Amino acid sequence: MADECFTHPRLAAIHDALDSDRSDLDAYVRMAEEFGARRVLDVGCGTGVFALRLARRGLEVTGVDPAEASLAVARTKPGAQQVSWIHGDATALPPLRADLATMTANVAQAVTDPPAWRETLRGIHAALRPGGRLVFETRDPARRAWEEWTRERSYTVTEVPGVGAVESWVELTGVDGPLVSFRWTYGFAADGTVLTSDSTLRFRERAQVAADLSACGYVLEDVRDAPDRPGRELVFVASASRRA
Ligand SMILES: C[S@@+](CC[C@H](N)C(=O)[O-])C[C@H]1O[C@@H](n2cnc3c(N)ncnc32)[C@H](O)[C@@H]1O
Repeated sequence: MADECFTHPRLAAIHDALDSDRSDLDAYVRMAEEFGARRVLDVGCGTGVFALRLARRGLEVTGVDPAEASLAVARTKPGAQQVSWIHGDATALPPLRADLATMTANVAQAVTDPPAWRETLRGIHAALRPGGRLVFETRDPARRAWEEWTRERSYTVTEVPGVGAVESWVELTGVDGPLVSFRWTYGFAADGTVLTSDSTLRFRERAQVAADLSACGYVLEDVRDAPDRPGRELVFVASASRRA
């Protein structure tokens, strides 16, 4: 199940305003071009920012996400009718024969359970055409990003149109080996409501991801840097060349 920040209607509605710099998606648009993709599956599409960017470029896009509130935001956006939206996860997709599947913004880390992660990889494999590619990022555990997840470093007040001022910050709540847990707090100035969202992410080593991809029928083609976050992310490019 996805976290409150994606499933609570009030939090899903302010998600884009609080995360307005989406230059992280530029590299994925370039990869869609690089691979000549015409049909794309965006797994964990959230509020649809990336899916809609691709659809505006004339690509045929399917977005899937387990958070209905986030999909509801996506569906109200201009151009949303150009995208096929699926409420669910990657384990029960139609046979899309997609050229490219994406998981932007660390969706991969949100699938913390190892069997569920492999089911996700297998489900995506089944939705790709033979030779289609999967690209996704996962934070490099060596960079210990969670050490920066403090109230002091993250506290912001965002003026959200139609909502008013929203203060937000993140705090680490636990580190258990590769599992990192944290809590976002959101304060709505307009009515004094305070909402929280608890998350856990799995920080996978590069070798672990490579082994999981191989076990699920992929050929690992490349591990790249995220140009907007140099040294922080591992960006995997894998092709569904073998049977899963
Ligand atoms: C950080 S958001 C990224 C959203 C979107 N990819 C973007 O770049 O804006 C993570 C998303 O992963 C979704 N998610 C969580 N568990 C998932 C799963 N098992 N399969 C697919 N998506 C999942 C959440 O609902 C949420 O929308």
